[in-house]
Amino acid sequence: MKVKTIIAGNWKMNTGAKEAGELVEELLANIKTGAYGPAVVLAPPFPFLADTVQRLAAATKGRQQWMVAAQNCHQEEHGAFTGEVSAPMLKSLGVQACIVGHSERRQYFGETDTAVAKKVSALLRHGLMPIYCCGERLDERQSGRHREVVAQQITTALGNLTPGELARVVVAYEPVWAIGTGVTATPQQAREMHAFIRAELRRIAPGVADQVPILYGGSCKPDNAAGLFAGEDINGGLIGGAALSADSFAALVRIAQEAKSTA
Ligand code: PGA
Repeated sequence: MKVKTIIAGNWKMNTGAKEAGELVEELLANIKTGAYGPAVVLAPPFPFLADTVQRLAAATKGRQQWMVAAQNCHQEEHGAFTGEVSAPMLKSLGVQACIVGHSERRQYFGETDTAVAKKVSALLRHGLMPIYCCGERLDERQSGRHREVVAQQITTALGNLTPGELARVVVAYEPVWAIGTGVTATPQQAREMHAFIRAELRRIAPGVADQVPILYGGSCKPDNAAGLFAGEDINGGLIGGAALSADSFAALVRIAQEAKSTA
């Protein structure tokens, strides 16, 4: 079974309401995805999710491959958690996916692998697709511990999933030292880690591991994407900075399409 190719745009804490709407319209105008092209996932900030869902729904023709994702969710379903947003709330808006475990959440908001594991479960319980982020820090790579760190993250967050659950997860490998820094992993480094992650997923659920998309994230841009997306176990990208420009995001979708149609 061919692994789905996905290009996901993580807008982080950028854009106001007007700009967010304009960006979605520009993306709709610039990206043409056929039934076999990459899936396109847009992850705007919470306040603009509903508007993004509505804009995509209004442009449904040929947009079956588009999805809206949140950038985070809380692990509980409801209750006294001021300021938080739960998986069922996202579901009720028509959101289909959610990024969890992003390194910025781990670094600035103290998110642990255990909390992230609960978020993954909450999303799966409510029929949303978790985009689970993992990746090592610079000091961990320099000391040669990158595989160990990523294996630990994956085991804690995904190790208890059933094969049916794992089959609904997307993994994003995002080396922390490459996020927003302009320093990208080399295609060789990315290939090596994606193959390693694939092997870890096979340990959890051998029957479905080969169909889990593994996205690369970290300073992925049109000028470096072709080499990355050509990698066998690199099934697309989680894009930050370059997702804020319709031109560069559309170019990344095209590059992924070309890389995978010739693979
Ligand atoms: P970047 O961000 O593309 O700006 O490095 C990627 C991400 O954080 O998902």
